[in-house]
Amino acid sequence: MQIQVGIVGAGPAGLMLSHLLHQHGVDSVVIDTRSREEIEGTIRAGVLEQSSVDLMTETGVGDRVRQLGMVHEGIELRFCGRGHRIDFTDLTGGRGVTIYPQHEVLKDLIAKRLADGGDIRFGVSGVQVKGITGDAPTIGFTQDGVEQELTCGLVAGCDGSRTMTRYLIPSPEPRQDHFRQYPFAWFGILAEAPRSSDELIYAHHRNGFALISTRSATVQRHYLQVEPNDNVHDWSDDRIWQELRTRVDGAEIKEGPIFSKSVLPFRSFVCEPMQHGRLFLAGDAAHTVPPTGAKGMNLAIADVHVLSRAMTRFFAAGVRTALDAYTDTALPRVWRAQHFSWWMTSMLHRMPEASGFDLNRQIAELDTVTRSRAGRTLLAENYVGTPFD
Ligand code: DHB
Repeated sequence: MQIQVGIVGAGPAGLMLSHLLHQHGVDSVVIDTRSREEIEGTIRAGVLEQSSVDLMTETGVGDRVRQLGMVHEGIELRFCGRGHRIDFTDLTGGRGVTIYPQHEVLKDLIAKRLADGGDIRFGVSGVQVKGITGDAPTIGFTQDGVEQELTCGLVAGCDGSRTMTRYLIPSPEPRQDHFRQYPFAWFGILAEAPRSSDELIYAHHRNGFALISTRSATVQRHYLQVEPNDNVHDWSDDRIWQELRTRVDGAEIKEGPIFSKSVLPFRSFVCEPMQHGRLFLAGDAAHTVPPTGAKGMNLAIADVHVLSRAMTRFFAAGVRTALDAYTDTALPRVWRAQHFSWWMTSMLHRMPEASGFDLNRQIAELDTVTRSRAGRTLLAENYVGTPFD
């Protein structure tokens, strides 16, 4: 089968790329080793920047996010027993973020692709990408026991942080992997409880960081900074609630039965370049950010916004210029998001062996940021995200 773009991975990057290419008349096939049920049923957080919601709306997949998403016009930073609001609306000229889980975005994109006659192959196995430095790369795979091969004009590697496509770029030349491990993890819970706060609370405490978030009026999502080797069994329900109350130091926390506990990895990663021959990486296949800045899904969408335009120009006019410039166009935003996520992380988390100097320096930094309009604006602009163009 001949196709313009073969896309490996039906996550936010792969599905959004296929959707955007279709809008520009470029055809694609998306393959994924997971079933549709698994993709739509894996519950993941989602904080969408204004530009991500705008792009979904402009391209006809924004109805549910605007109906069901929760628009947040600010967050609270808490330290030393006091809350400090970062007012996004005021500081960014009316921009905000929308809390809308990733699997809901995926449901919207899958439904739209299928309604538009799109080709998504779920549950494939034995994926092999070949010939990316030649003129006609191929993607081989097995579906329902039948071996198939797609001959592609271009290949997009959108297969997430457990990527295989990234490793098709030879290392150490030209591929460089920039990796940062953090000396802690996040422990996340889901609880059946009323909302504790109308807005997310990011709390600094000498015991470590805590985040108060939400899924709905009746389901709440909270996180605690823990040791990287901590196990869910180390944390009884009582210990969790007590530690959350200690760390938010004075904000009211509404308790309820906890029905999910998990430990999240915490790391930064960037692969450079994000392309080789006719292969182009997007989303977590190319980079991972720590969760503090809530940037992951937005970076995937920003990547494919750039990539879809470059691919469209290539097929419409035979011009490779924009494709050749893909890494240089996409990477500065990736590094800005890395910096923002690292900044939020380093300002709010307890480092191992933190001294009185370190803790007081963090408090002074939080004080500097929150008491100055310029400081709050810097944080707000980065949190709501800069425009795509
Ligand atoms: C959530 C996760 C984040 O990493 C974040 O920064 C904000 C909210 C969440 O799970 O709701």
